[in-house]
Amino acid sequence: MNKTNGQNGSDLQRAISRSVTVLGSTGSVGTSTLDVIAHARQAYGNDAFPIEAITAQSNVQMLAEQARRFRPRLAVIGDSSHYAQLEDLLAGSGVRIAAGPDAILAAANEPADVTMLAIVGAAGIAPALAAVGRGGVIALANKECVVAAGEVFRRVLSTSRATIIPVDSEHNAAFQLLDFAQSHAIESVVLTASGGPFRTWTRESMASVTPEQAVAHPNWSMGAKISVDSATLMNKGLELIEAHHLFGIEADRLGVIIHPQSIVHCLIAYSDGSTLAHVSAPDMRTPIAYALSWPVRMHSPSRRLDLATLTGLTFEAPDKRQFPCLALAQESLRTGGRAPTILNAANEIAVHAFLGRRIGFLDIARVVARALSMPNLMDGELADLEEVLALDRHARMVANEEVLRLAA
Ligand SMILES: NC(=O)c1ccc[n+]([C@@H]2O[C@H](COP(=O)([O-])OP(=O)(O)OC[C@H]3O[C@@H](n4cnc5c(N)ncnc54)[C@H](OP(=O)(O)O)[C@@H]3O)[C@@H](O)[C@H]2O)c1
Repeated sequence: MNKTNGQNGSDLQRAISRSVTVLGSTGSVGTSTLDVIAHARQAYGNDAFPIEAITAQSNVQMLAEQARRFRPRLAVIGDSSHYAQLEDLLAGSGVRIAAGPDAILAAANEPADVTMLAIVGAAGIAPALAAVGRGGVIALANKECVVAAGEVFRRVLSTSRATIIPVDSEHNAAFQLLDFAQSHAIESVVLTASGGPFRTWTRESMASVTPEQAVAHPNWSMGAKISVDSATLMNKGLELIEAHHLFGIEADRLGVIIHPQSIVHCLIAYSDGSTLAHVSAPDMRTPIAYALSWPVRMHSPSRRLDLATLTGLTFEAPDKRQFPCLALAQESLRTGGRAPTILNAANEIAVHAFLGRRIGFLDIARVVARALSMPNLMDGELADLEEVLALDRHARMVANEEVLRLAA
Protein backbone atom coordinates (compact mmCIF):
# COMPACT_ATOMS: atom_id res chain seq x y z
CA MET A 1 0.00 0.00 0.00
CA ASN A 2 1.18 3.53 -0.58
CA LYS A 3 -0.13 6.96 0.20
CA THR A 4 0.29 10.04 -1.92
CA ASN A 5 -0.70 13.55 -1.12
CA GLY A 6 -2.18 16.26 -3.22
CA GLN A 7 -5.06 18.47 -2.34
CA ASN A 8 -6.18 21.23 -4.59
CA GLY A 9 -9.26 21.98 -6.63
CA SER A 10 -8.36 19.80 -9.59
CA ASP A 11 -7.41 16.85 -7.37
CA LEU A 12 -10.79 17.10 -5.66
CA GLN A 13 -12.51 17.45 -9.03
CA ARG A 14 -10.77 14.29 -10.27
CA ALA A 15 -11.66 12.42 -7.08
CA ILE A 16 -15.37 13.20 -7.22
CA SER A 17 -15.53 12.35 -10.94
CA ARG A 18 -14.69 8.72 -10.20
CA SER A 19 -17.26 6.12 -11.11
CA VAL A 20 -18.37 3.85 -8.26
CA THR A 21 -19.80 0.34 -7.93
CA VAL A 22 -21.42 -0.57 -4.61
CA LEU A 23 -21.59 -4.32 -3.98
CA GLY A 24 -24.08 -4.77 -1.11
CA SER A 25 -25.75 -1.38 -1.61
CA THR A 26 -28.79 -2.21 0.56
CA GLY A 27 -26.84 -3.00 3.74
CA SER A 28 -25.62 -0.75 6.50
CA VAL A 29 -22.31 0.14 4.78
CA GLY A 30 -23.98 0.21 1.35
CA THR A 31 -26.67 2.71 2.36
CA SER A 32 -24.09 4.84 4.19
CA THR A 33 -22.01 4.85 0.99
CA LEU A 34 -24.96 6.09 -1.04
CA ASP A 35 -25.64 8.69 1.66
CA VAL A 36 -22.08 9.98 1.33
CA ILE A 37 -22.50 10.09 -2.46
CA ALA A 38 -25.83 11.95 -2.17
CA HIS A 39 -24.11 14.46 0.09
CA ALA A 40 -21.20 14.84 -2.35
CA ARG A 41 -23.68 15.52 -5.17
CA GLN A 42 -25.28 18.26 -3.05
CA ALA A 43 -21.92 19.74 -2.17
CA TYR A 44 -20.10 19.38 -5.50
CA GLY A 45 -22.78 18.93 -8.19
CA ASN A 46 -25.01 16.18 -9.53
CA ASP A 47 -22.35 14.52 -11.62
CA ALA A 48 -20.21 13.60 -8.57
CA PHE A 49 -19.53 9.86 -8.31
CA PRO A 50 -21.49 8.44 -11.28
CA ILE A 51 -22.60 4.93 -10.35
CA GLU A 52 -21.78 1.90 -12.49
CA ALA A 53 -23.49 -0.88 -10.56
CA ILE A 54 -25.34 -1.59 -7.34
CA THR A 55 -26.14 -5.05 -5.97
CA ALA A 56 -28.28 -6.63 -3.24
CA GLN A 57 -29.23 -10.16 -2.28
CA SER A 58 -32.99 -10.07 -1.64
CA ASN A 59 -34.06 -6.52 -0.73
CA VAL A 60 -35.49 -5.83 -4.15
CA GLN A 61 -37.63 -2.88 -3.06
CA MET A 62 -34.71 -0.92 -1.66
CA LEU A 63 -32.49 -1.86 -4.60
CA ALA A 64 -35.10 -0.50 -7.03
CA GLU A 65 -35.53 2.72 -5.00
CA GLN A 66 -31.75 3.20 -4.99
CA ALA A 67 -31.59 2.56 -8.73
CA ARG A 68 -34.30 5.14 -9.46
CA ARG A 69 -32.58 7.68 -7.24
CA PHE A 70 -28.91 7.12 -8.13
CA ARG A 71 -29.27 5.98 -11.77
CA PRO A 72 -26.61 3.25 -11.96
CA ARG A 73 -26.00 1.61 -15.32
CA LEU A 74 -26.67 -1.80 -13.75
CA ALA A 75 -28.70 -3.12 -10.77
CA VAL A 76 -28.25 -6.74 -9.72
CA ILE A 77 -30.31 -8.86 -7.35
CA GLY A 78 -28.49 -11.95 -6.05
CA ASP A 79 -31.61 -14.01 -5.42
CA SER A 80 -32.90 -14.78 -8.94
CA SER A 81 -36.46 -15.33 -7.71
CA HIS A 82 -36.76 -11.51 -7.44
CA TYR A 83 -35.78 -10.87 -11.05
CA ALA A 84 -39.34 -10.35 -12.36
CA GLN A 85 -40.15 -7.96 -9.51
CA LEU A 86 -36.99 -5.97 -10.16
CA GLU A 87 -37.90 -5.82 -13.84
CA ASP A 88 -41.36 -4.44 -12.95
CA LEU A 89 -40.02 -1.94 -10.44
CA LEU A 90 -37.42 -0.58 -12.87
CA ALA A 91 -39.54 -0.68 -16.04
CA GLY A 92 -38.82 2.39 -18.16
CA SER A 93 -35.94 3.54 -15.93
CA GLY A 94 -33.20 2.72 -18.46
CA VAL A 95 -31.28 0.84 -15.74
CA ARG A 96 -29.95 -2.52 -16.96
CA ILE A 97 -30.89 -5.35 -14.58
CA ALA A 98 -29.54 -8.84 -13.88
CA ALA A 99 -29.91 -11.56 -11.24
CA GLY A 100 -28.00 -14.39 -9.60
CA PRO A 101 -24.54 -14.85 -8.04
CA ASP A 102 -22.87 -14.85 -11.47
CA ALA A 103 -24.44 -11.48 -12.22
CA ILE A 104 -23.00 -10.11 -8.94
CA LEU A 105 -19.61 -11.41 -10.05
CA ALA A 106 -20.14 -9.74 -13.43
CA ALA A 107 -21.00 -6.47 -11.63
CA ALA A 108 -17.69 -6.74 -9.73
CA ASN A 109 -15.99 -7.09 -13.11
CA GLU A 110 -17.64 -4.01 -14.62
CA PRO A 111 -15.12 -1.18 -15.00
CA ALA A 112 -15.48 1.26 -12.08
CA ASP A 113 -12.86 3.59 -10.63
CA VAL A 114 -13.91 2.70 -7.07
CA THR A 115 -15.53 -0.55 -5.97
CA MET A 116 -17.13 -0.60 -2.53
CA LEU A 117 -17.06 -4.18 -1.21
CA ALA A 118 -19.96 -4.13 1.26
CA ILE A 119 -21.42 -7.61 0.85
CA VAL A 120 -21.55 -9.39 4.19
CA GLY A 121 -19.71 -12.65 4.82
CA ALA A 122 -17.99 -15.20 2.62
CA ALA A 123 -20.48 -14.45 -0.20
CA GLY A 124 -18.21 -11.46 -0.83
CA ILE A 125 -15.04 -13.52 -1.46
CA ALA A 126 -15.44 -14.21 -5.19
CA PRO A 127 -16.70 -10.69 -6.06
CA ALA A 128 -13.87 -9.21 -3.97
CA LEU A 129 -11.20 -11.21 -5.77
CA ALA A 130 -12.75 -10.31 -9.13
CA ALA A 131 -12.74 -6.59 -8.26
CA VAL A 132 -9.17 -6.73 -6.93
CA GLY A 133 -8.03 -8.58 -10.05
CA ARG A 134 -9.64 -5.92 -12.24
CA GLY A 135 -7.88 -3.08 -10.40
CA GLY A 136 -8.82 0.47 -9.40
CA VAL A 137 -9.56 1.66 -5.87
CA ILE A 138 -11.10 -1.06 -3.71
CA ALA A 139 -12.99 0.35 -0.72
CA LEU A 140 -12.85 -2.72 1.47
CA ALA A 141 -15.60 -3.16 4.08
CA ASN A 142 -16.02 -6.94 3.77
CA LYS A 143 -13.39 -8.23 6.19
CA GLU A 144 -14.52 -11.86 5.86
CA CYS A 145 -13.06 -12.09 2.34
CA VAL A 146 -9.60 -11.10 3.61
CA VAL A 147 -9.86 -13.42 6.61
CA ALA A 148 -11.11 -16.43 4.63
CA ALA A 149 -9.01 -15.97 1.50
CA GLY A 150 -5.94 -14.51 3.29
CA GLU A 151 -2.89 -15.61 1.29
CA VAL A 152 -4.90 -16.07 -1.92
CA PHE A 153 -6.23 -12.51 -1.53
CA ARG A 154 -2.68 -11.23 -1.03
CA ARG A 155 -1.41 -13.09 -4.10
CA VAL A 156 -4.16 -11.67 -6.32
CA LEU A 157 -3.47 -8.20 -4.88
CA SER A 158 0.28 -8.46 -5.49
CA THR A 159 -0.22 -8.98 -9.24
CA SER A 160 -3.06 -6.48 -9.69
CA ARG A 161 -3.17 -2.72 -10.09
CA ALA A 162 -5.72 -2.36 -7.30
CA THR A 163 -5.27 -0.05 -4.33
CA ILE A 164 -7.04 -1.22 -1.19
CA ILE A 165 -8.47 1.48 1.05
CA PRO A 166 -9.82 -0.17 4.19
CA VAL A 167 -13.29 0.99 5.26
CA ASP A 168 -13.48 -0.78 8.62
CA SER A 169 -13.04 2.20 10.94
CA GLU A 170 -10.03 0.73 12.77
CA HIS A 171 -8.18 -0.24 9.58
CA ASN A 172 -9.07 3.00 7.91
CA ALA A 173 -7.60 4.75 10.96
CA ALA A 174 -4.47 2.58 10.76
CA PHE A 175 -4.14 3.32 7.05
CA GLN A 176 -4.25 7.04 7.83
CA LEU A 177 -1.71 6.71 10.66
CA LEU A 178 0.79 4.15 9.40
CA ASP A 179 4.05 5.43 8.05
CA PHE A 180 4.88 2.60 5.65
CA ALA A 181 8.34 4.06 4.99
CA GLN A 182 9.13 3.52 8.69
CA SER A 183 7.73 0.01 9.02
CA HIS A 184 10.87 -1.13 10.89
CA ALA A 185 9.94 1.38 13.63
CA ILE A 186 6.35 0.16 14.18
CA GLU A 187 6.23 -1.49 17.61
CA SER A 188 2.52 -2.21 17.72
CA VAL A 189 -0.79 -1.62 16.02
CA VAL A 190 -3.62 -1.67 18.56
CA LEU A 191 -7.23 -1.85 17.41
CA THR A 192 -9.89 -0.60 19.79
CA ALA A 193 -13.09 -2.52 20.51
CA SER A 194 -16.18 -1.08 22.16
CA GLY A 195 -16.62 -4.34 24.08
CA GLY A 196 -20.18 -4.62 22.73
CA PRO A 197 -23.40 -4.71 24.73
CA PHE A 198 -22.22 -7.44 27.17
CA ARG A 199 -18.89 -5.98 28.22
CA THR A 200 -19.90 -5.77 31.87
CA TRP A 201 -21.98 -8.97 31.98
CA THR A 202 -20.87 -12.17 33.65
CA ARG A 203 -20.36 -15.20 31.44
CA GLU A 204 -23.24 -16.98 33.20
CA SER A 205 -25.67 -14.15 32.41
CA MET A 206 -24.60 -14.17 28.74
CA ALA A 207 -26.05 -17.70 28.41
CA SER A 208 -29.55 -16.24 28.06
CA VAL A 209 -28.72 -13.40 25.66
CA THR A 210 -31.33 -12.97 22.90
CA PRO A 211 -30.64 -11.99 19.27
CA GLU A 212 -32.40 -8.66 19.92
CA GLN A 213 -30.00 -7.88 22.78
CA ALA A 214 -26.99 -8.97 20.75
CA VAL A 215 -27.73 -6.77 17.72
CA ALA A 216 -28.31 -3.67 19.86
CA HIS A 217 -24.80 -2.27 19.65
CA PRO A 218 -24.13 0.60 22.10
CA ASN A 219 -22.28 2.89 19.64
CA TRP A 220 -22.56 1.71 16.02
CA SER A 221 -25.57 1.03 13.83
CA MET A 222 -24.61 -2.03 11.74
CA GLY A 223 -25.94 -5.14 10.01
CA ALA A 224 -27.04 -8.11 12.17
CA LYS A 225 -24.02 -10.34 11.53
CA ILE A 226 -21.32 -7.82 12.41
CA SER A 227 -23.37 -6.67 15.43
CA VAL A 228 -23.35 -10.22 16.83
CA ASP A 229 -19.63 -10.48 15.97
CA SER A 230 -19.08 -7.29 17.96
CA ALA A 231 -21.00 -8.73 20.92
CA THR A 232 -18.83 -11.89 20.96
CA LEU A 233 -15.64 -9.90 20.12
CA MET A 234 -15.18 -12.21 17.11
CA ASN A 235 -15.36 -9.03 15.06
CA LYS A 236 -12.16 -7.77 16.68
CA GLY A 237 -10.51 -11.13 16.09
CA LEU A 238 -11.47 -11.02 12.40
CA GLU A 239 -10.11 -7.48 12.30
CA LEU A 240 -6.74 -8.60 13.69
CA ILE A 241 -6.47 -11.14 10.88
CA GLU A 242 -7.57 -8.49 8.38
CA ALA A 243 -4.92 -6.07 9.70
CA HIS A 244 -2.24 -8.77 9.42
CA HIS A 245 -3.01 -9.29 5.72
CA LEU A 246 -3.60 -5.64 4.83
CA PHE A 247 -0.59 -4.14 6.59
CA GLY A 248 1.82 -7.09 6.79
CA ILE A 249 2.09 -6.80 10.59
CA GLU A 250 2.78 -10.04 12.48
CA ALA A 251 0.46 -11.34 15.20
CA ASP A 252 2.74 -10.40 18.11
CA ARG A 253 2.67 -6.71 17.10
CA LEU A 254 -1.12 -6.61 16.76
CA GLY A 255 -3.20 -5.87 19.84
CA VAL A 256 -6.73 -5.13 21.02
CA ILE A 257 -7.87 -2.76 23.72
CA ILE A 258 -11.41 -2.25 24.97
CA HIS A 259 -12.52 1.36 24.61
CA PRO A 260 -16.27 1.60 25.30
CA GLN A 261 -16.72 5.11 23.86
CA SER A 262 -15.54 4.16 20.30
CA ILE A 263 -13.86 7.55 19.81
CA VAL A 264 -10.27 6.32 19.42
CA HIS A 265 -10.19 3.76 16.60
CA CYS A 266 -6.56 2.69 16.39
CA LEU A 267 -3.24 3.37 18.12
CA ILE A 268 0.15 2.97 16.44
CA ALA A 269 3.20 2.84 18.72
CA TYR A 270 6.58 3.70 17.17
CA SER A 271 10.02 2.78 18.49
CA ASP A 272 10.83 6.39 19.52
CA GLY A 273 8.07 6.22 22.12
CA SER A 274 5.44 8.09 20.08
CA THR A 275 1.94 6.68 19.94
CA LEU A 276 -0.37 8.04 17.24
CA ALA A 277 -4.12 7.73 17.68
CA HIS A 278 -6.95 8.34 15.25
CA VAL A 279 -10.08 9.84 16.80
CA SER A 280 -13.47 10.56 15.31
CA ALA A 281 -17.15 10.20 16.18
CA PRO A 282 -18.36 6.62 15.59
CA ASP A 283 -19.86 7.15 12.13
CA MET A 284 -19.01 4.91 9.19
CA ARG A 285 -19.55 7.77 6.76
CA THR A 286 -16.14 9.18 7.80
CA PRO A 287 -14.04 6.19 6.60
CA ILE A 288 -16.38 5.70 3.62
CA ALA A 289 -15.86 9.31 2.47
CA TYR A 290 -12.10 8.90 2.96
CA ALA A 291 -12.09 5.75 0.80
CA LEU A 292 -14.23 7.27 -1.98
CA SER A 293 -12.12 10.40 -2.45
CA TRP A 294 -8.66 9.13 -1.34
CA PRO A 295 -6.06 10.62 -1.37
CA VAL A 296 -8.07 13.86 -1.35
CA ARG A 297 -10.34 14.67 1.56
CA MET A 298 -13.88 15.73 0.72
CA HIS A 299 -16.75 17.00 2.81
CA SER A 300 -18.81 14.27 4.44
CA PRO A 301 -22.14 14.35 6.32
CA SER A 302 -20.70 12.39 9.27
CA ARG A 303 -21.14 13.40 12.89
CA ARG A 304 -18.39 15.67 14.19
CA LEU A 305 -16.44 15.08 17.36
CA ASP A 306 -17.05 17.45 20.25
CA LEU A 307 -14.50 16.58 22.92
CA ALA A 308 -16.05 18.99 25.43
CA THR A 309 -19.24 16.88 25.54
CA LEU A 310 -17.40 13.62 26.29
CA THR A 311 -17.41 12.49 29.89
CA GLY A 312 -14.20 10.52 29.46
CA LEU A 313 -12.22 8.08 27.37
CA THR A 314 -11.47 4.78 29.07
CA PHE A 315 -9.40 1.75 28.10
CA GLU A 316 -9.13 -1.76 29.53
CA ALA A 317 -7.68 -5.12 28.50
CA PRO A 318 -10.13 -7.60 26.94
CA ASP A 319 -11.11 -10.61 29.05
CA LYS A 320 -10.57 -13.58 26.75
CA ARG A 321 -12.19 -16.05 29.12
CA GLN A 322 -15.36 -13.99 28.99
CA PHE A 323 -15.06 -13.61 25.19
CA PRO A 324 -13.47 -16.85 23.89
CA CYS A 325 -14.15 -15.92 20.24
CA LEU A 326 -11.38 -13.34 20.45
CA ALA A 327 -8.94 -16.00 21.71
CA LEU A 328 -10.02 -18.41 18.94
CA ALA A 329 -9.39 -15.76 16.29
CA GLN A 330 -5.99 -14.85 17.74
CA GLU A 331 -5.03 -18.51 17.79
CA SER A 332 -6.15 -18.86 14.16
CA LEU A 333 -4.06 -15.86 13.21
CA ARG A 334 -0.98 -17.45 14.80
CA THR A 335 -1.71 -20.84 13.22
CA GLY A 336 -2.34 -19.25 9.83
CA GLY A 337 -2.90 -21.44 6.74
CA ARG A 338 -6.41 -22.87 6.71
CA ALA A 339 -7.38 -21.91 10.27
CA PRO A 340 -8.80 -18.41 9.52
CA THR A 341 -10.92 -19.81 6.65
CA ILE A 342 -12.40 -22.42 9.01
CA LEU A 343 -12.87 -19.85 11.78
CA ASN A 344 -14.74 -17.49 9.47
CA ALA A 345 -17.01 -20.16 7.93
CA ALA A 346 -17.90 -21.75 11.28
CA ASN A 347 -18.58 -18.34 12.80
CA GLU A 348 -20.97 -17.42 9.98
CA ILE A 349 -22.92 -20.66 10.51
CA ALA A 350 -22.96 -20.18 14.28
CA VAL A 351 -24.10 -16.55 14.11
CA HIS A 352 -26.82 -17.48 11.62
CA ALA A 353 -28.00 -20.28 13.95
CA PHE A 354 -27.96 -17.93 16.94
CA LEU A 355 -29.96 -15.27 15.05
CA GLY A 356 -32.43 -18.05 14.12
CA ARG A 357 -32.66 -18.97 17.85
CA ARG A 358 -31.35 -22.51 17.21
CA ILE A 359 -28.35 -22.15 19.54
CA GLY A 360 -27.47 -19.89 22.45
CA PHE A 361 -25.05 -16.96 22.47
CA LEU A 362 -22.32 -18.92 24.25
CA ASP A 363 -22.67 -21.76 21.73
CA ILE A 364 -21.20 -19.54 18.99
CA ALA A 365 -17.69 -20.05 20.37
CA ARG A 366 -18.37 -23.78 20.88
CA VAL A 367 -19.30 -24.25 17.21
CA VAL A 368 -16.21 -22.37 16.05
CA ALA A 369 -13.92 -24.28 18.43
CA ARG A 370 -15.36 -27.59 17.22
CA ALA A 371 -14.69 -26.77 13.55
CA LEU A 372 -11.14 -25.65 14.35
CA SER A 373 -10.49 -28.89 16.20
CA MET A 374 -11.20 -31.11 13.16
CA PRO A 375 -7.66 -32.24 12.20
CA ASN A 376 -8.54 -33.25 8.63
CA LEU A 377 -9.68 -29.69 7.90
CA MET A 378 -6.33 -28.20 8.84
CA ASP A 379 -4.04 -30.04 6.39
CA GLY A 380 -2.47 -28.37 3.35
CA GLU A 381 -2.02 -24.95 1.77
CA LEU A 382 -4.81 -23.08 0.02
CA ALA A 383 -3.68 -22.57 -3.56
CA ASP A 384 -6.54 -20.65 -5.12
CA LEU A 385 -10.11 -19.40 -4.83
CA GLU A 386 -11.57 -22.85 -5.58
CA GLU A 387 -9.68 -24.37 -2.66
CA VAL A 388 -10.74 -21.52 -0.35
CA LEU A 389 -14.38 -22.01 -1.31
CA ALA A 390 -14.12 -25.81 -0.95
CA LEU A 391 -12.69 -25.46 2.58
CA ASP A 392 -15.32 -22.84 3.40
CA ARG A 393 -18.06 -25.32 2.36
CA HIS A 394 -16.49 -28.17 4.30
CA ALA A 395 -16.08 -26.09 7.47
CA ARG A 396 -19.73 -24.99 7.18
CA MET A 397 -20.80 -28.65 7.06
CA VAL A 398 -18.85 -29.44 10.24
CA ALA A 399 -20.22 -26.32 11.95
CA ASN A 400 -23.78 -27.20 10.93
CA GLU A 401 -23.37 -30.68 12.44
CA GLU A 402 -22.25 -29.06 15.69
CA VAL A 403 -25.23 -26.68 15.59
CA LEU A 404 -27.57 -29.67 15.18
CA ARG A 405 -25.88 -31.43 18.11
CA LEU A 406 -26.13 -28.37 20.37
CA ALA A 407 -29.73 -27.67 19.33
CA ALA A 408 -30.86 -31.28 19.99
N1 LIG B 1 -21.96 -2.02 9.27
C1 LIG B 1 -20.83 -1.48 9.64
O1 LIG B 1 -20.79 -0.44 10.30
C2 LIG B 1 -19.52 -2.15 9.25
C3 LIG B 1 -18.33 -1.61 9.74
C4 LIG B 1 -17.12 -2.20 9.33
C5 LIG B 1 -17.12 -3.29 8.48
N2 LIG B 1 -18.30 -3.82 8.05
C6 LIG B 1 -18.27 -4.98 7.18
O2 LIG B 1 -18.96 -4.64 5.97
C7 LIG B 1 -19.66 -5.76 5.45
C8 LIG B 1 -21.13 -5.37 5.31
O3 LIG B 1 -21.66 -5.15 6.61
P1 LIG B 1 -23.10 -4.53 6.83
O4 LIG B 1 -23.23 -4.30 8.28
O5 LIG B 1 -23.32 -3.41 5.87
O6 LIG B 1 -24.02 -5.79 6.40
P2 LIG B 1 -25.57 -5.79 6.09
O7 LIG B 1 -26.22 -4.59 6.61
O8 LIG B 1 -26.07 -7.12 6.52
O9 LIG B 1 -25.60 -5.71 4.47
C9 LIG B 1 -25.07 -6.74 3.69
C10 LIG B 1 -25.23 -6.45 2.21
O10 LIG B 1 -24.81 -7.63 1.50
C11 LIG B 1 -25.91 -8.15 0.72
N3 LIG B 1 -25.86 -9.61 0.78
C12 LIG B 1 -26.21 -10.41 1.82
N4 LIG B 1 -26.01 -11.71 1.50
C13 LIG B 1 -25.52 -11.72 0.24
C14 LIG B 1 -25.14 -12.76 -0.66
N5 LIG B 1 -25.22 -14.06 -0.32
N6 LIG B 1 -24.68 -12.41 -1.89
C15 LIG B 1 -24.60 -11.10 -2.26
N7 LIG B 1 -24.96 -10.08 -1.45
C16 LIG B 1 -25.40 -10.39 -0.21
C17 LIG B 1 -27.15 -7.60 1.39
O11 LIG B 1 -28.26 -7.60 0.50
P3 LIG B 1 -29.79 -7.64 1.12
O12 LIG B 1 -29.98 -6.33 1.80
O13 LIG B 1 -30.65 -7.79 -0.08
O14 LIG B 1 -29.82 -8.80 2.06
C18 LIG B 1 -26.67 -6.21 1.77
O15 LIG B 1 -26.69 -5.37 0.65
C19 LIG B 1 -19.42 -6.90 6.45
O16 LIG B 1 -18.38 -7.70 5.98
C20 LIG B 1 -19.01 -6.20 7.73
O17 LIG B 1 -18.15 -6.99 8.53
C21 LIG B 1 -19.49 -3.26 8.41
